[in-house]
Amino acid sequence: MRHFINLKDISTSDLRKIILDAKKRKLKRKNLNTLELDKDSPLKGKLLIQMFEKSSLRTRLSFYLAIKQLGGGALTLRPDELHLAKGGESLADTAKVLSTYGNGFMLRTDSDTKLEEFKKHLKIPIINGLSPSSHPTQVLSDIFTVEEIKKKPISKLNICWIGDSNNVLNSLIAASVKFSFNLNIGCPTNYRPKKSIIDWVHKNKKKINIFNDAKKAALSADVIFSDKVISLNDKVNKSKKNKDFKNFTINSKLMNVAKKDAIFLHCLPRGPEVSDDVFLGKQSKVWQQALNRIYVQKSILLYCFGKLR
Ligand code: CP
Ligand code: NVA
Repeated sequence: MRHFINLKDISTSDLRKIILDAKKRKLKRKNLNTLELDKDSPLKGKLLIQMFEKSSLRTRLSFYLAIKQLGGGALTLRPDELHLAKGGESLADTAKVLSTYGNGFMLRTDSDTKLEEFKKHLKIPIINGLSPSSHPTQVLSDIFTVEEIKKKPISKLNICWIGDSNNVLNSLIAASVKFSFNLNIGCPTNYRPKKSIIDWVHKNKKKINIFNDAKKAALSADVIFSDKVISLNDKVNKSKKNKDFKNFTINSKLMNVAKKDAIFLHCLPRGPEVSDDVFLGKQSKVWQQALNRIYVQKSILLYCFGKLR
């Protein structure tokens, strides 16, 4: 059984297979409506149970459509309606029931420990739909989008991240090791990635470049990524953190430091970290990025269900 919790734990060849499958499936759907099934319906009869302990638009919709298009169905649980949230049922018992009713479980949670606990007790695959430490489905889909737009392997591109050292960046760092791409990070000194993450990169004989200067980080970039400075449920002094990031706004001046044909990506939702003219401008590919999540979620589901060819 294959879980999808962290990119670090998945082999590069499996990650590549997922991207290739997504590409093929996307091409084949050109003339199909949203709810029409992929011709082969490989997950016919399968149920994906999903639960969100934090808000979600894109992850929720993309997994719903992904399993539908593969011939299966989805059920979304509200955590406040379960016994588990109120302490009336143990996680282990909940996991057992999920395992007999469903075929896969997608969880967005505030707790990495909870993901691990579910993994321990489930008899079905679990997918991490965002946790405090990573957002693997987002970043794998973003690699797909970059290669789709740039028409070359990501290893041949300069990737830049301007922003907080959060879950999305952690997954992008993991991806930089798995896919061997050059990653420049621009962030204030106090918001650098955790030492354990940098150590993991070095252990894998790779490196990332961290700059306390947005322009230095963005120099010659092919892709500039960003994300909200204040993440969901981020318990920090918000106005202080926003102030700390004031020199790390992505505006047209910063985009001019990157390559002429550089693109801007952002997983959404957005905050003040990006100016409207960049976010809504020609270099921004955020809507294509958001839509591509459906295609990659499908191939992630196939990987987890052991049906990836
Ligand atoms: N990018 C992303 O995960 O969006 P949602 O929070 O809306 O799912
Ligand atoms: N880093 C953000 C991503 C939202 C999709 C958060 O965790 O809120």
